[in-house]
Amino acid sequence: MFNKICIIGVGLIGGSIARAAREQGLCRNIVAFGRQSGIGNLQTAKKLGVIDEFYVDIEPAVKDADCVIVCTPVGVTEQIFRQLQPFWSNSTIYTDAGSTKASVVEAVKSVFGQVPANFIPAHPIAGAESSGVEASKADLFANKRLIITPIDSSSTDAVNIIKQFWQKIGSIVSIMDVEHHDAVLAATSHLPHILAFSLVDLLGKKDEQIEIFKFAAGGFKDFTRIASSDPTMWLDICLANKKEIIPLIQQLKAELEKIEQMLADNNSKRLFETFTYARQARQRFLNQFDNSMSHSTSFTIQPGGHLRGKIRVPGDKSMSHRSIMLGSLAEGVTHVKGFLNAEDALATLAAFRAMGVEIEGPINGEVTIHGVGKNGLKEPKEPLYLGNSGTSMRLLSGLLAGQKFNTVLTGDKSLSSRPMKRVTAPLISMGADIRTEDDGTAPLHITGTGELKAIDYFMPMASAQVKSCLLLAGMYAEGTTSVVEPAPTRDHTERMLNGFGYPVQRDGNKASITSEGKLIAMDIDVPSDISSAAFFLVGASIAADSDVTLKHVGINPTRTGIIDILRLMGANIEVMNERSIGGEPVADLRVRSSQLKGIEIPEELVPLAIDEFPVLFVAAACADGQTTLTGAKELRVKECDRIQVMADGLQSLGVDAQPTEDGMVIQGKTADSIGGGEVDSHDDHRIAMSFSIAGLRATAPIIVHDCDNVNTSFPEFRDLATQLGLNLK
Ligand code: S3P
Repeated sequence: MFNKICIIGVGLIGGSIARAAREQGLCRNIVAFGRQSGIGNLQTAKKLGVIDEFYVDIEPAVKDADCVIVCTPVGVTEQIFRQLQPFWSNSTIYTDAGSTKASVVEAVKSVFGQVPANFIPAHPIAGAESSGVEASKADLFANKRLIITPIDSSSTDAVNIIKQFWQKIGSIVSIMDVEHHDAVLAATSHLPHILAFSLVDLLGKKDEQIEIFKFAAGGFKDFTRIASSDPTMWLDICLANKKEIIPLIQQLKAELEKIEQMLADNNSKRLFETFTYARQARQRFLNQFDNSMSHSTSFTIQPGGHLRGKIRVPGDKSMSHRSIMLGSLAEGVTHVKGFLNAEDALATLAAFRAMGVEIEGPINGEVTIHGVGKNGLKEPKEPLYLGNSGTSMRLLSGLLAGQKFNTVLTGDKSLSSRPMKRVTAPLISMGADIRTEDDGTAPLHITGTGELKAIDYFMPMASAQVKSCLLLAGMYAEGTTSVVEPAPTRDHTERMLNGFGYPVQRDGNKASITSEGKLIAMDIDVPSDISSAAFFLVGASIAADSDVTLKHVGINPTRTGIIDILRLMGANIEVMNERSIGGEPVADLRVRSSQLKGIEIPEELVPLAIDEFPVLFVAAACADGQTTLTGAKELRVKECDRIQVMADGLQSLGVDAQPTEDGMVIQGKTADSIGGGEVDSHDDHRIAMSFSIAGLRATAPIIVHDCDNVNTSFPEFRDLATQLGLNLK
């Protein structure tokens, strides 16, 4: 990639970059620049073969280098760039390895007046207990994360070259903005280092008086490992990022005070909950860590098999979101059972915690929300990150538009590309102040004016998210806010608001709300999610000799389109033990194999089965004859373009699936319905699970790539599917 690399500062990091670049054959010549006082270190680097040459004078060091990598402590960045400035070349790429990024960017700005386009800030997240070039090794960055933080003026070509360089070294590269980088690292690295240093400082002094280290064991060693880090480097990092670190120290102090109080009060229940939550959170972290470090999870499904057994799928996603939102706005303590412990619902939970709501759990699906009342939310200190969750972002935008404080809503790549104008446009006509990106996508910047005016809104699309967004905004607007839906959509918001004692009027296809009212805490029993049950409703229908009972499934009539469509196709689904739990109908669903037939899906059923089409397309591929879906344009703007992605995937498995603008035409086959092959989930949980189910009728193994996203809605999918008989690894 490069002819000559110049490393400025060959310690552990600089030395390891040099070794890795050489081992991967990424450059011909590696030189280093260092201070006269560090000449011993430079000599060692040369002796060890880490570098070819070294200089204590910067001019010859950087002459003709096509890449210069600054690996010094962040505190001397400005000094280094002042030395580089007279010899700056536009044909060289400059990068760094500093652990904080705002301070580095500021330092470069103060030298050049602006950040040159060919300086690309970067941070490899790797380290070791020992420091110095002697400790450097070529695989220090293998399978470790590296973050590039380009700024507006950065050259895209240079960013791509640096990205490739690190990928070739074996790192997993992410691109992030500078502020986000510093906030994330303050929480995950800088605060833990300060904690380790301060704990050992305290205990070290105690040890001088009463011997304690002698009796410290593995736990202490694990916890304090990072207190062995280089003090000079950490002094620099902590000072450089104190803006992010100090608020975190304050939050930690508050957390410790809470625990102190729990101990003083002998509050074993709260202590247990705190420890249990922390344990679960760490497990979540470990899972994510394992997943991201092994790049991503693929599912391999062996063909055939049948599904048999009784299971309960996890809680309804839509209701779990709403239970947190309304429970937070209620007066009193709301207890939720059956809460969905999956990433989407947890994103909502985390957002309300960040707005000052005390929420305990989830522990075994139980969550306790200490409601703060309709006007009790507090301004979050940071942007609210909502991951993959469209429901969180759209519903929150309405709720937050009515507050008197400002918020920023962000999400992952998929969520950041989904249309938000459908909520921001009507909210703006209510007087809300919301900014999106030019193309109407997130981040959403909401300025809380506290002055919304009611509107009568006819929704251009059948969307429960838009309806719910406006009803939540209507709780803060002057007058009566009405939303008319072009076709019925899920009505959990209306039902749950009424359940909390907040009146929502229904008049045909119109739902209305005013700001008059309050929510009184209640107990919520979230039934199982019919959208998760759907995978097994289809799976047991298409696989021979199958008999599955799905227990305690929510069968709200605005959600049962999947049952109606499958029955029209000839499925054998029995609805048993119908009952009403907390205002929502619930039943056990028994489904047995049957030969499905192709149908024209009635358009009025589309909004009632909107999330189930990916798996319904699989059913259609196994049905006798043609299935046609129309009126489902909304599928193009879900977590991915579900029409295109499913058509592409099915075609690659040999199915005749033709996408149309608003649906799909599938020629189903009763034998050899689906072939084997590899498909990609395109970052969409329901695509991943649908293609897994397709394996039941495949003629050869199906490999589904990128399945970590299953955690968005159904983390237990793999376990439950294999328990029923799907051969999934
Ligand atoms: C949801 C509404 C639907 C659905 C989504 C959840 C909700 O979205 O697809 O998974 O909880 O309100 P749209 O409102 O965009 O149809």
